[in-house]
Amino acid sequence: MKGYISKMEGVSAFYYFTIIVLLFATVSCSEERISFNAQIRPILNKNCVSCHGGIKQSGGFGLVFAENALRKTESGKIGIVPGKPNQSEMYQRLVHHDPEQRMPLEEAPLKASEITLIKQWIEQGAQSLGLYPATTSAATGDPIGMDQQ
Ligand code: HEC
Repeated sequence: MKGYISKMEGVSAFYYFTIIVLLFATVSCSEERISFNAQIRPILNKNCVSCHGGIKQSGGFGLVFAENALRKTESGKIGIVPGKPNQSEMYQRLVHHDPEQRMPLEEAPLKASEITLIKQWIEQGAQSLGLYPATTSAATGDPIGMDQQ
């Protein structure tokens, strides 16, 4: 009986240890580096680039060349301030309360998970911005100059 109880204690200590490890894993997961190529570019491609590309840049905001996304837009606000989503008009327009200002224009808002990804990507420095569309090496098929994570 004694042996049985201490065995049970061992099991529950292991159980708590597992929970703590899982908690840490979850926290560190949410801070993983966002890949522009894999996670952000498809969202912009689907929802934004038709109006904010390299040629058509509605509101003076374009997502193909970094300089067009990082500069002041027509409203005088800056499109993307790397590291600062709250100062980035791109992020503000995704969460705007006024449907006439919220992007994508005249469409349903992006999914909460997509908005969170874009926010984290801006927080992490808006890496690889302006390298849209991806260039691939004809020789190896590898992406060139992209965030390869
Ligand atoms: C159907 C076309 C269309 C789509 C799609 C669209 N936009 Fe816009 N966007 C506009 C127009 C037109 C303006 C200028 C009017 C305004 O400022 O609201 C604008 C303005 C903006 C501005 C502000 C420019 C300024 O002057 O401050 C940002 C930032 C922006 N869009 C980001 C986005 C993002 C990010 C997406 C994708 C999630 C997106 N837009 C999708 C048409 C579009």
